[in-house]
Amino acid sequence: MLFERFSHGKLRLPNRLVRSAVCEGLTDQDFAPSAAMIDLEVKLAQAGCGLIIAGKTAVSPDGCILRKQCRLDSDRAIPAYRHLTGAVHAAGAKIFVQLGHGGRRSTVNPRTPADWSLQELEAIPELFAAAAVRAKTAGFDGVQVHGAHGYLLSEFLSPCFNGRTDLYGGTLANRARLLLKTVAAIRRAAGDAFAIAVKLNSEDFVGNGLTAAESVEVLQKLASYGMDAAEISGGVPEAGMALNPARQGISQAPYYAEFAAKLRGKLPVPVILTGGIRSLETAENLLQNKVCDLIGLGRPLIAEPDLPLDWRKGKERLSCCAGCNGCFRPLVAGRGVACRLPEGHK
Ligand SMILES: Cc1cc2nc3c(=O)[nH]c(=O)nc-3n(C[C@H](O)[C@H](O)[C@H](O)COP(=O)(O)O)c2cc1C
Ligand code: SF4
Repeated sequence: MLFERFSHGKLRLPNRLVRSAVCEGLTDQDFAPSAAMIDLEVKLAQAGCGLIIAGKTAVSPDGCILRKQCRLDSDRAIPAYRHLTGAVHAAGAKIFVQLGHGGRRSTVNPRTPADWSLQELEAIPELFAAAAVRAKTAGFDGVQVHGAHGYLLSEFLSPCFNGRTDLYGGTLANRARLLLKTVAAIRRAAGDAFAIAVKLNSEDFVGNGLTAAESVEVLQKLASYGMDAAEISGGVPEAGMALNPARQGISQAPYYAEFAAKLRGKLPVPVILTGGIRSLETAENLLQNKVCDLIGLGRPLIAEPDLPLDWRKGKERLSCCAGCNGCFRPLVAGRGVACRLPEGHK
């Protein structure tokens, strides 16, 4: 099933394999994709990813979480993004870009939910909408709103970080307001034909964080606001290494599968499941058992961008990714994401 075509609503994909957003850290002087980033995404498309989600791309300079992070806050970047989308399309895949704001995890101006004025919050959905329109102009098939991992939209959802007592805090409806308004603003600005996905935590895994029941409620609300696909993730840095979105160690157990299975039938849009999927057999079982609609891979494709070539041939082998998370180090150092595993182990 993994390599069969997938069609649901606005999602028309050559297959069900998704390269989950991975911050590439490969930018040019305009914070747009460098030639190296384009080469990487084309390699993934040629290998057989049906949908590539370009890594978190800031909607404003103060939303950046890395020194070398892509941004879509200026029209100047559009030509480079056009090269990226054109090359990926020519290689047979679809491409979304993940839009995000770092919030309290910004490296430029970290701010907690309490630090934002109402007027500043009103402007956030418009920043996302303007970036989405640029993405559409640049040829992307859709955007993914980053609503997970404790960044701006995620921290507002979580009572643990959001202690506001106004329209943006307190009840779940208030905590979800910024995210919902963001999706609505993108839909208004980019039109009905443009696909919008959202990556959301199944749970924050911290005391007083977003719970699984709340996450289901938010996902259902997002679908009614025009979300076309949901990607399930989880965790915030405070949850610790064991409950991070990129869990350490070698696992063959997709760690949000139970949540995704419970979501089944409750959401009218396709679900992408990401986290800990390491074999073709696991991916096929998840699809056959209707746990999810699409399979997301992050680290296995950092370790081996051409892994899908083998899986497409039906070669049953595990990803060589050791789950050491060494790939974050070059990214944070400004050299771009790369696997730290010695060549002989790949
Ligand atoms: C180096 C690195 C960069 C990542 N960048 C992003 C990102 O930009 N946006 C995002 O939502 N998740 C990001 N993630 C998380 C992955 O998308 C994915 O959710 C996580 O790694 C679990 O999937 P996996 O077990 O297949 O790696 C990143 C993970 C790694 C290892
Ligand atoms: S450095 Fe390589 S082996 Fe380690 S987690 Fe990242 S991709 Fe996997």
